Amino acid sequence: MGTFYFFLFQAHSGWRWIALLLLVITTVKVAIGLVAGQKWTSLDQKLVTFTNIAVSIQVLLGIFLYVLLLTQGGGITGRSVGSITTAHMIPALLAIGAIGFASARSKKASTDRQKFMMATIGMVIAVLMVVGALMSVGGIFVMATAG
Ligand code: HEM
Repeated sequence: MGTFYFFLFQAHSGWRWIALLLLVITTVKVAIGLVAGQKWTSLDQKLVTFTNIAVSIQVLLGIFLYVLLLTQGGGITGRSVGSITTAHMIPALLAIGAIGFASARSKKASTDRQKFMMATIGMVIAVLMVVGALMSVGGIFVMATAG
C-alpha cells in the first residue's frame, strides 16, 4: 500500500462528509417540498445538481482507489476485493443512477408536485444505497487508519 493509495483513501473517506451533507439537505428539502405542496424553485434544482456532482466525485475517487486495489492489492480497511465490489461499489453505482433519475425526471416533469415527487423518490433511494455502501466498509462514521 503506497503513499498515493493512502492519499486517495483519505480523500475518498473525507469527501463522504460533503456527499452525505448534500444528500441529507437535498432529500429533506425536496421531501418537505412534496409534502407541503411548495413551488419548485431554482434552489431545488441546484441542490439536486450539487448533490449529483458531490456523489459523482465520491464515486470517481472510489473508482481510482478500486483500480489501485485491483492492481496493487493491499487495502486499508481489511476488506476483500470481492466484498468491496459487491457490497460497496454496486450500491454506490446504484446511488448515482438514482440521483441521475432524480435530476433528469425532476427537470422533465411538468408540474411542481411531479418534480418534487421524482426528486424525492430518487434521493431517498440514493440515501439508502449510500448508507448501504457505507455499512459495507464499517458504517457511516467509520474512519480507518493505516497500519
Ligand atoms: C457514495 C459512494 C461512496 C461512499 C460514500 C464511499 C465511502 C467510503 C468509505 C467511508 C470508505 C472507508 C473509509 C475509512 O475506513 O476511513 C471507503 C473505502 C473504499 N471505497 Fe468507497 N465509497 C463510495 C463509493 C465507492 C465506489 C463506487 C468505489 C469503487 C468503484 C469505492 C471503492 C472503495 C475502496 C477501494 C475503498 C478502500 C478499501 C480499502 O482500502 O480497504 N467506493 N469508501
